[in-house]
Amino acid sequence: KKRIGLLTSGGDSSGMNAVVRSIVRVAISRGCEPYAIYEGYEGLVQGGNMIKKFEWSDVRGYLSVGGTLIRTARCQSFREHKGRLQAAHNLIKNGIDALIVCGGDGTLTGADTLRSEWPSLLKELVQTGKLTEEEVAPHTYLTIVGIVCSIDNDMALTDITIGAVTSLHRICEAVDSISSTAFSHSRAFVIEVMGRHCGWLALMAAISSGADYVFIPERPPEAEKWKKEMCDTIEKQREAGKRNTIIIVAEGAIDDNLEPIKADDIRKLLVDAKIDTRVTTLGHIQRGGRPCAYDRNLATLQGVEAVEAVLRATPDTSSPMISVRENKFVCEPLMKAVELTHQVAEAIAEKNFRRAMELRDPEFNE
Ligand code: F6P
Repeated sequence: KKRIGLLTSGGDSSGMNAVVRSIVRVAISRGCEPYAIYEGYEGLVQGGNMIKKFEWSDVRGYLSVGGTLIRTARCQSFREHKGRLQAAHNLIKNGIDALIVCGGDGTLTGADTLRSEWPSLLKELVQTGKLTEEEVAPHTYLTIVGIVCSIDNDMALTDITIGAVTSLHRICEAVDSISSTAFSHSRAFVIEVMGRHCGWLALMAAISSGADYVFIPERPPEAEKWKKEMCDTIEKQREAGKRNTIIIVAEGAIDDNLEPIKADDIRKLLVDAKIDTRVTTLGHIQRGGRPCAYDRNLATLQGVEAVEAVLRATPDTSSPMISVRENKFVCEPLMKAVELTHQVAEAIAEKNFRRAMELRDPEFNE
């Protein structure tokens, strides 16, 4: 029976539990044994009771719960060779030779590093007497499959990541609530949303809530002009009788000189323009809580695809990432997706904003 390890790592996102549930149940249905690895790579390095065989009933109730019940951690020791050697040891001791990793780009990179080092790690384990030739013999290669869980929706080669839509719902609800009090008091609110270097959450939230202004990293406004333009626009709206003003700013927003645009700086500008203004940083309320139906379904279907990808894997194929392209599930090369994601960040840092958009979407046309 194939033993499949699964872990959630990096920042959590709603829908991670639904993925775990799906992988466990599909693996069992397909005659495999699923092993949950607690606290991401931390559990892989520690081993012992951090790696637990899961039964069908172990994931009862998982579908609708936020966060990750098998927990997550940002693990330092796995970044070091010693930690990965220990991880390989624990995998072999538990008879696991396939790993489904759920997380963002850091998580997927870590898994691929483990896979590429696998033969040399096995050699070292034998040479140092930690394992025998007989013990490592059945584990000549490690299968890795990646599932992208992130509220940021910042991974290249996939249209959507698990948790992003739930987070968007959470933001919209918050903006609706803020809008009503903004109207009562005739105030402006500057709302900072998460997303790291990606403006997807901010842009989608702005469209869905009818915000008056939005700042995202991918479309930096002109440093010399944006302050006046924004104040003029908002003042005009006010003169026309608008009582509530909503400005959404992505946490990674910058101007075209790459200077950060911060919520409090926007507040000060509006206060100087005599507009009563407050700042709300939504923070981790965007990341926790029950997944919406879309994320439950996305997670469940991606779990099915991931187990099938494990069963199809051969030593010669590159590690796949389960991806959604134009509403269809496809497997993309995991490392290509990670590299493209990093190139997007580099293009933004080089002020090549058009290239950043093209890297995310080759059909991008302004
Ligand atoms: O990547 C998910 C995310 O929530 C980002 O949007 C945010 O910048 C970051 O993680 C916050 O990380 P932490 O929870 O470690 O503060």
